Amino acid sequence: MLCSTPASWLEKKAAQQPVYPNQKTLNDVVSRLSKLPPLVTSWEIETLKAQLAEATRGERFLLQGGDCAESFDECESNAIVNKLKILLQMSLILEHGSKKRVIRVGRFAGQYAKARSAENETRDGVTLPSYRGDMINRPGFTEADRTPDPVLLLRAYERAALTLNFIRSLTTGGFADLHHPENWDLGFIAHSPLADEWQRMINSIGESIRFMEALNSTTIAEFGRVDFFTSHEGLHLFYEQAQTRQVPRRPGWYNLSTHFPWIGDRTRTIGGAHIEYIRGIANPIGVKIGPSITPNELIELIDIINPHNEPGRLTLIHRFGYDKIEQCLPPLIEAVQRSGKIVLWCCDPMHGNTELTIDSVKTRNFNHILSELEQAFEIHSRTKSYLGGVHFELTGEDVTECIGGARGLSEADLHRTYKTLCDPRLNYEQSLEMAMLIARRMAKLAHQ
Ligand code: PEP
Ligand code: CO
Repeated sequence: MLCSTPASWLEKKAAQQPVYPNQKTLNDVVSRLSKLPPLVTSWEIETLKAQLAEATRGERFLLQGGDCAESFDECESNAIVNKLKILLQMSLILEHGSKKRVIRVGRFAGQYAKARSAENETRDGVTLPSYRGDMINRPGFTEADRTPDPVLLLRAYERAALTLNFIRSLTTGGFADLHHPENWDLGFIAHSPLADEWQRMINSIGESIRFMEALNSTTIAEFGRVDFFTSHEGLHLFYEQAQTRQVPRRPGWYNLSTHFPWIGDRTRTIGGAHIEYIRGIANPIGVKIGPSITPNELIELIDIINPHNEPGRLTLIHRFGYDKIEQCLPPLIEAVQRSGKIVLWCCDPMHGNTELTIDSVKTRNFNHILSELEQAFEIHSRTKSYLGGVHFELTGEDVTECIGGARGLSEADLHRTYKTLCDPRLNYEQSLEMAMLIARRMAKLAHQ
């Protein structure tokens, strides 16, 4: 197999790419993007890969989450802080339940391009290109909004940089200190049915930290700091290519726009441009796998992306749906085990469980999401595999996009605060509850 270079994908068929009216502007933008400084470093990327390698051995657990599609409008302080808060709270709950260190990866600072099932959208007899994410076009329904504009790639890079800068400042500046989890409380936790359980948990963690510090007569600095990594779908290949660089003293190419790019279920075609691009970079890679993948195809894909069987290199993010996982997952686990390939298994319980209400509103049912997750834990445990991570679409806001959960949101509630630009997200309370329920399940597994 020939070497892949950042631009070798251009020789292959690239699914889900926008059609730009002006090629020259696109070329100018890509050339500008190629010169702008990177957003992350190869050190951070290698640190994440080493942590993911530990997760493949059952020593850590991955929590990946954020918006389906980030929006330029929501690149503002509250939305970012709230996203960080909910991920921190969930990770603490999962650490408490699993007794494993959690790797926190946000779907943020670059999640601006979306794969769409329809090329066009028709409203009242007017047909325009589908909205493909803020990096490509705009959600409004006018010709000007929907025409792909290459300059938005630069705006996306800038928003990603602003988001990441703020996240880095918050996490290194003490906000993420485990001694002060009360910093992460969102305004409405006090009125939540989950408030007591959360309070009990942070009291117990606080006590453990103080106890260990008393024994060692020192503060636990290592405990006090938490890391955040970034991820987004590596969909827009010009954007990814422009940020793919060589670095001093390390071989190969790194995508320096994010720590952890993933390839979506719709673009993971063997022989296609996305796999050609992704196989050539040194980052840890995620691949989404849905019901259509066969065991043979999966093994071929693993061979292409991870020919040297490097631990931490490849995370398989499975997303089948609560009614299909039992049929789809076991043959894939068996094929991977038989081949001796090292992968990290992660469950995305969101994308196989999207449904439409009678009014055609996209939603997801909390119970279906939970059911897929519980089955995933059970199947991996039964087959002596390890479910090493979970992947959610969620937000730190009090939205009404998914139904169910402790507050019993119903279809009638959806119109209240339905804000997503793409898929429905768990709101703050639903996310917290989901983390508590899976933490209980992990605590049971740890005692088996
Ligand atoms: C997504 O993660 O938003 C997505 C489109 O997922 P998938 O590729 O699994 O359908
Ligand atoms: Co989505």
